[in-house]
Amino acid sequence: MAEAKTLHDAFIDELRDAYDAEKQLLKALAKMAKKASADDLSAAFDSHLGETRGQVDKLERVFASLGEKVRGKHCDGIAGIIEEGKSVMEEDFDSATMDACLIAGGQRAEHYEMAAYGTLVAWARLMGHTEAGDLLEEILDEEKAADAKLTALAEGGINEAASSGTTSEDDDEDDAPAPARQKVRPAKAKAAKKKTTRK
Ligand SMILES: [Fe+2]
Repeated sequence: MAEAKTLHDAFIDELRDAYDAEKQLLKALAKMAKKASADDLSAAFDSHLGETRGQVDKLERVFASLGEKVRGKHCDGIAGIIEEGKSVMEEDFDSATMDACLIAGGQRAEHYEMAAYGTLVAWARLMGHTEAGDLLEEILDEEKAADAKLTALAEGGINEAASSGTTSEDDDEDDAPAPARQKVRPAKAKAAKKKTTRK
């Protein structure tokens, strides 16, 4: 009977999974950058796309540091998240709501990756793979920063812009003159958006 597999085998398996996930995300992030209406959101997806290319390189260096062949193994988890994101992108949402949904989908992917790299860093450190641990920690930090950036964009105007679209439609029964009220809200959303662009 074959010997039971070890934590090292599980580690290599997870690395292959992560490598495949990054490759899937290269395609998905390019589509999300195109789909986003807010310039700063599109730029955020684009910049994480560049980072993701770097992560593919870093993972190749991790494999090399372990004397392992570079190989991916289909990542069903990220495939599911990307599939859900695709369905949302096919919906007929107004542009601000679509941006809010793109952020929601993007953050699902980032959190999945943060969980995966958190484990990989811990295992690498435990088994004394210093170089691999350092590279994986760099990737983990990039995923955390990308997630924080998306939160800042959502809270810095995109969610509000999406919700002001809803509010003005629900205002029909309001006694206040609708045009005057509607003017105020988009301007407020724009101002909030401008604020995030400057950062
Ligand atoms: Fe990544």
